[in-house]
Amino acid sequence: MADKPTAKYRKDYKPADFSITHVHLTFDLQETDTHVRAVNKVVRQSHSEASTLVLAGEDLDLVALAVNGVAHTDYALTEGGIEIHQVPAEFELTVDTKINPKENSSLEGLYLSEGAFCTQCEAEGFRRITFYLDRPDNLAIFTTKVIADTSFPSLLSNGNRVAAGEVENGRHWVEWHDPFPKPSYLFALVAGDFDILEDTFTTKSGREVALEIYVDKGNLDRSHHAMLSLKRSMQWDEERFGLEYDLDIYMIVAVDFFNMGAMENKGLNVFNSKFVLAKPETATDADFLGIEAVIGHEYFHNWTGNRITCRDWFQLSLKEGLTVFRDQEFSSDLGSRAVNRINNVRIVRGPQFAEDAGPMAHPIRPEKVIEMNNFYTLTVYEKGSEVIRMLHTLLGEEKFQAGMRLYVDRHDGTAATCEDFVVAMEEASGADLKQFRLWYSQSGTPELTVATDYDATAKTFSVTVSQETKPTLDQAEKQALHIPFDIELYGADGRVLPLILNGGSVDNVLNVTQATQTFVFENIEEKPVISMLREFSAPVKLHYDYTDEELSFLMVNATNDFARWDAGQMLLAKHIRHNVTLSQQENIFELPLAVIAAFEGVLTNAELEPAFVAEMLTLPTESEVAGWYDVADVDAIANALGFIRQTLASEMVEPLTEKYHQLLQADYDVEHTSINKRKLRNTCLRFLALTEAGDELVKAQYRSSNNMTDTIAALDAANTGKLPCRETLMADFSDKWQHDGLVMDKWFMLQGKNPAENALDVVKAQLSHPAFNIKNPNRCRNLIGSFCGQNPLRFHARSGEGYEFLVDMLTQLNSVNPQVASRLIDPLLKFKRYDEARQRLMRSGLEKLAKLDGLAKDLFEKINKALEQ
Ligand code: TRP
Ligand code: ZN
Repeated sequence: MADKPTAKYRKDYKPADFSITHVHLTFDLQETDTHVRAVNKVVRQSHSEASTLVLAGEDLDLVALAVNGVAHTDYALTEGGIEIHQVPAEFELTVDTKINPKENSSLEGLYLSEGAFCTQCEAEGFRRITFYLDRPDNLAIFTTKVIADTSFPSLLSNGNRVAAGEVENGRHWVEWHDPFPKPSYLFALVAGDFDILEDTFTTKSGREVALEIYVDKGNLDRSHHAMLSLKRSMQWDEERFGLEYDLDIYMIVAVDFFNMGAMENKGLNVFNSKFVLAKPETATDADFLGIEAVIGHEYFHNWTGNRITCRDWFQLSLKEGLTVFRDQEFSSDLGSRAVNRINNVRIVRGPQFAEDAGPMAHPIRPEKVIEMNNFYTLTVYEKGSEVIRMLHTLLGEEKFQAGMRLYVDRHDGTAATCEDFVVAMEEASGADLKQFRLWYSQSGTPELTVATDYDATAKTFSVTVSQETKPTLDQAEKQALHIPFDIELYGADGRVLPLILNGGSVDNVLNVTQATQTFVFENIEEKPVISMLREFSAPVKLHYDYTDEELSFLMVNATNDFARWDAGQMLLAKHIRHNVTLSQQENIFELPLAVIAAFEGVLTNAELEPAFVAEMLTLPTESEVAGWYDVADVDAIANALGFIRQTLASEMVEPLTEKYHQLLQADYDVEHTSINKRKLRNTCLRFLALTEAGDELVKAQYRSSNNMTDTIAALDAANTGKLPCRETLMADFSDKWQHDGLVMDKWFMLQGKNPAENALDVVKAQLSHPAFNIKNPNRCRNLIGSFCGQNPLRFHARSGEGYEFLVDMLTQLNSVNPQVASRLIDPLLKFKRYDEARQRLMRSGLEKLAKLDGLAKDLFEKINKALEQ
C-alpha cells in the first residue's frame, strides 16, 4: 500500500459524470497473458459538463486506448485507475488491457481454479479485468466474446449464447449477449473442461429454461442434489413471491477456489464447490441442506439483486438482507420451520451479536467503508434479514407481499436504495415506518429488560419493557427503536390467556417504541407465565428473571416450538452462568435434578419431532457463552459447559442409549424425516461419548457407517469426548480421503476444534498435509479458522502461542489472499473482551501485523479500528 487507504462515506454518494450503456468485451484467454478488449458506449449524464472520464482499474497493464477509433493519449494513470481527458459528450471508448490470471491468488477478477478460468467481480473485482465505471449504479448491456484453446471446451458468460466459431492454431470462440442491463459486479466468464448436468424447467407462463450445472470431470454423480435444489427454488419463488425466471438458460459452475459461498452473476452463477457437490458417501446432511439454501439464495438474487440492484455498496443489505430472508423462508417452507429458525437465531445471537460488540460494529447499512469486502458481514446479511423479518412480522404476509410487488414494479431495471424498499413497504401497507428506519442506521444490539407485576385484586398483569443500546465504537449515541415484541400469557394449566389492553383485545405482537413502556393486561384471573420475544421477533437481547419452574413450564407448555426451545436455552443459560461463577470461586459445580428432569422429559417425549429434540439438547457454544460477559473467562466457561454436558450425559445415559439404538436407520436417504432422525441419534452419540460405553459405541458407528453424516458424527464425538479411539479413526479417515479436499475439510475442521492440549501442534503439522493448500480458502477456513474461532480454550492459551500462530498465518495470507486473511483475523480483533494479560498479547500481535510491508486495505481497516479502542 503506497498511501494510507482512504475511507468512503455513504453521505458522499454522487452520480457519475458519465455512464456506460453498452460494452462489448473480447477475451483472448492465456494463462499468464490474457488480452482484454472493451469497447464501451459512453454518454455524459445530463447533470454533468465534465470532459474527463474517470474509470477504476487495478493491477492492469494498459496496452492501448482509443476514442471513436482514434488512439487517445491524453490520459493519466492514477492510484485507483485512469483519468481520460478531453472526451466528448458521447463516444466509443476502446480499452485494451493485459492481465495475468495465473498469478492472481486473490481470487478476485479473472483467475485460474484447478486449470479453469473463472471470474469473481463482486464487489469491485471487475476493475482488475479492465478500466471501467465499476460501480453498481452503472447499468450496461454486455456482449462478451471468449476466445481460448479448444482444450477449454466450455466457454461461458452471461445471457444467451449468440455465436461460435473456430480460429487457427487449435483455438475457438463463443459470443454471449445479456439483454438485461447490469452493473459490472454481475459480470462472469468461465472457460474450462467440465462435465455438465443438464435439465429443464418450465416457468409458470410456459417458457422452457435450460438448466446446466458445470462440475469438474468425474463429479457428475455429485451434482444431482444441486439440480433438484435449483428446480425447487424456481418453483418456490413463483409460488410464494410470484417471481419468474427471465432468461432462456441458467448455468451454475462449481469451482474449488472461491472466497465466499457463491455468486449470483446474471445467468451464470459461480459456486464454491462445497455448495454444489454432494453424494451420501462424501457429504453430510448439513452439506445437503447448505446446498439447498445457497442454490436458493443465488437464484433468488435474480430478482432481489440483479433485476433490482444496489445504487451504491452502502446499500448492500438491500439485496443481501432481503435475499437471506427469502432463502430462510424457502428452507423453512421445504423443511422444518422451527429447526431453521433455531439455527438462524443461533447465528444472530452468537457471532452477529459478537460483531456488534466488537470494533467492526456497523449498522446494516454502513456509513463508512475502506474495503468493501470487509462489509459482507453477519450484520449486513443476518441482521439485515432479521430487519426484513421484523417488517414481515409487523405487516403480515399479505401486506408484505403487496410491498414486494410495489418495490419490484417501481424499481425493476434500476439501482435502488434501502430507503426505496422501506418506502414501498410503507406505501403498500399504510404502516408508519418512520421510527422503524432506525434499524438501518443504528448499530449495536438493543437490550430489553422486562419486569412484570401481577395485581390479584385488580386482576391485571403489567409488563414493563425498557430498551437500551450500548454505545458502539462507530456510534456513541443511541435512540429507542421500534421493536416488534411478540408475547403470550399462560395460565397454570397451560391455557393461553387472551390479551386485553384498555378494554380491547390485542394481537401477540406489541409495538415497543419508547425507552420504557408499560402494558397492563386486564381480566387476568391468576398469575400467568409469560413467553416473550416469540420467534425471536426482534434481534435483541432479553433480560428477565425467570424462575427455573417457569422455564420448565414453558419448555412443555409454550404453543410454539421455537418458544419451547428458547425456554430450554434460558434454563441452560442460568445454570451455565451459575457454574461459571462456581468455577471462578473454585467451588463445586451443581445442576439441580429438576433441570435434568426437564431435559429428560424432552428426550423421552415421543410426540416431539426428533430434530427439534436434538436442538433442545444442544448447548450454546463456548463463543456464544463468552458473548454474555463483558470479559470472558475462557477456562471457567469451558469448565462450566463441560460439567453440564457431562452431567446430562451421565444422568440420562439410559434414555440416551435407548434413543440411540431406536433411531438406527438401515438405509440412507436425504428426506427431511431421515435427516431429522440422524440428527437426534448423533446428538445422543455426542453425549454418550462422555460415558463409559462411549469409545465402543463411537468405534462401532464409524466402522458400520454407510454415509458421511454418521462417519463425521462418530469422529466429532471421538474428538470432543477425547476418546482413546480418536487417533486411529482420524488416521483411517485421512488415509481414505486425502485425495479429496472437500471431504478433508471436515477432518481439518475437527483438528482445529480438537480440545486436546497439543491441538496447536497438531494443527501446525496439518499445514504440510498433502490435502492442505494455503491458496485454497476452504482449507484455510476449516483448519486455521476453526482453531482460532471455535477452539477458544486452545487459541487463547495463556502462553500466547495461539495468537502467534494466527499472526504468522495472516502474514502469509496478507499477500496470498487478503479477503481470506481479513476473515480469519476476526477473533484477534476482540481483545477487549479478555483479561489484561491476554489483551496485551493479542494487541501486540495486531501491532506487529500493522507494520507489515504491503498491508492490504482489508487488514488495514480492521486492525486500525481494533487498535483505536
Ligand atoms: N453476492 C454473494 C452472495 O451473497 C457474495 C459474494 C460472493 C461475494 N463472492 C464474493 C462478496 C466475493 C464479496 C467478494 O451470494
Ligand atoms: Zn447474496
